[in-house]
Amino acid sequence: MRLKDKITIITGAGSGIGRATALLFAREGACVLAADIDGDKATRVTAEINNDGGRAEALAADIAEEADARRIASRAAELWGRVDVLVNNAASFHHKRVEDADRADWEKAWSVNVLGTSLCSRYAAEIMKKQGGGAIVNIASINGLIAMPDWMTYNASKAAVIEMSKSMAMDLAPFHIRVNCVCPGVTDTPALQRAIEELGASREEVIKAYIEPQCLIKRFGKAEEIAPAILFLASDEASYMTGATVVVDGGYTT
Ligand SMILES: NC(=O)c1ccc[n+]([C@@H]2O[C@H](COP(=O)([O-])OP(=O)(O)OC[C@H]3O[C@@H](n4cnc5c(N)ncnc54)[C@H](O)[C@@H]3O)[C@@H](O)[C@H]2O)c1
Repeated sequence: MRLKDKITIITGAGSGIGRATALLFAREGACVLAADIDGDKATRVTAEINNDGGRAEALAADIAEEADARRIASRAAELWGRVDVLVNNAASFHHKRVEDADRADWEKAWSVNVLGTSLCSRYAAEIMKKQGGGAIVNIASINGLIAMPDWMTYNASKAAVIEMSKSMAMDLAPFHIRVNCVCPGVTDTPALQRAIEELGASREEVIKAYIEPQCLIKRFGKAEEIAPAILFLASDEASYMTGATVVVDGGYTT
């Protein structure tokens, strides 16, 4: 087991990539605190884990709220005595073009993706420092590497997550806390389904227009294909990795 008895926190664990990561971490022996703004979704995931013989607790929390970010870290420590791994996965998919984006739009994209990621890291790192180490995995996106049309505010927020991960790696290395970043490509999750519906297109039309011309593996990724990269970076197998950006995108950005 690659995370045996590790105390792990996954934000946005109620759906998509966060859910797949929570299920995988639990199978690898971790205790999982599944934090999500939607407490019911988090509870469904933890029930699945616990029914399967794993160890998980759900927490309803909005990472953009500082008190909640602090509560996420302190709840894991209260339950299990430490925090070994934080996966900053929760995100807002709020996106606008430059002509349309006002302060409120920027604040929506920024408060969850950038501020929330930073605050959760801050409070988890306080605990990790005291115990002598830990690992943080931030989920950015290929949108932070190459811009996608009409998604300016989200693209910029994910570029910030990539850069922020490197800064965190520098700041936290003296405390034996590794920080790495995963950039998923277009992945088949409820968030993608919502984006397809917004476009008013069918899945087949989206694959033809956006995936086939650009993605070497000509299909959407699956959440279960992103989670193993997160597991690797969270585990001791990645003991010599920090400040890295790992792209899992079927060759989209090649
Ligand atoms: N699906 C993709 O194509 C794709 C591509 C690249 C990157 N990503 C990234 O992967 C991560 C997961 O995306 P997904 O597709 O699984 O999304 P999803 O919408 O399926 O799941 C996201 C979860 O985060 C929760 N959440 C949202 N805002 C929150 C907040 N403020 N506090 C706590 N929880 C909150 C939601 O309730 C939801 O359960 C995100 O960081 C996203 O940017 C996704």
